[in-house]
Amino acid sequence: MPSFARAHTNLALVKYWGKEDEALRLPSAPSLSVTLDAFYTDTRLSKADTNEFVLDGKKVAGPEADRVFSYLSRLFSLFSLPKEGLLVESRNFVPKSAGFASSASAFCALAAAFAEEFGLDLTRKELSIAARLGSGSASRSVYGGFAEWKEGGTGESFAFPLDENPSMGISVLFLSFGGGEKEISSTEGMRRSKFSPFFPVWRQECRKACGEAESAIKAGDFEKLGEVAEKNACQMHALALSCGFSYLSGLSLEALRLAQNLRKGSVPCYWSCDAGKNAALLCQKGDAGRVKQAVREAMGAGARLFEAGPGKGVEAWREV
Ligand code: PMV
Repeated sequence: MPSFARAHTNLALVKYWGKEDEALRLPSAPSLSVTLDAFYTDTRLSKADTNEFVLDGKKVAGPEADRVFSYLSRLFSLFSLPKEGLLVESRNFVPKSAGFASSASAFCALAAAFAEEFGLDLTRKELSIAARLGSGSASRSVYGGFAEWKEGGTGESFAFPLDENPSMGISVLFLSFGGGEKEISSTEGMRRSKFSPFFPVWRQECRKACGEAESAIKAGDFEKLGEVAEKNACQMHALALSCGFSYLSGLSLEALRLAQNLRKGSVPCYWSCDAGKNAALLCQKGDAGRVKQAVREAMGAGARLFEAGPGKGVEAWREV
């Protein structure tokens, strides 16, 4: 009987950027994220004679399919199961053409569908460990709301929930400045960043930022959380620049200035940006309309807008 899973993407407010062990995907520093309601991956998994990967209705071969099946092969070994052929049918409800990454939701959904299909009855901690082996950020998508992933440990590294039903009315507005694959993958970017003379400082700053973000979440202090997130995103991009590369474009920086100008006008709005040029603006739910208007006034058709709020953790079930 096929199994089905839905996992949402997440935006890191404190970024995972650097691995201690690449094969095991052990992070050099802690990270913290908010799971998003608007963007997710649906994955259906069924036993088959041969491996096949169908993404958004189209059969996929090449590196993308290889990554999926080498990950599944790893899961068979991890859970000491005999290898079997699998049909993986995924649909990404993530605006990929707009340059948004889907590896967190994709690998979290895949891990959950696999666990369901093979009746593994995993705890969420075990599921987070399994998801992490596909993509580090996927470890956090197991949970809804705010989740954290601590550094260190061995193969047991996992994320845990901080607040799955945030009372903080937070909106995340994504600004897409057009598609185009990024030139430097996050794996490669993390590899290069470890050579930065600032890497030890980055690790310290992430530890500090996670502590501050945890307190802000507990206190329901949106402004503090936003400040921590913006500073951490700036530091991640400064780290990349210190190694001679950057994901940022002029428009990414214009979005940063826009957030800072909105704050001058007393609208608490904060910037973040992942391993790509597209930016995210964090604001309180009640301010989302004003922030969207400010983006349209400043950037017009140059930025496509997508809105999300805190989302649910991964769900999986067996089809009957
Ligand atoms: O999980 P990966 O390998 O796709 O890396 C994610 C990297 C960032 O999105 C930039 C940061 C993060 O913590 O999600």
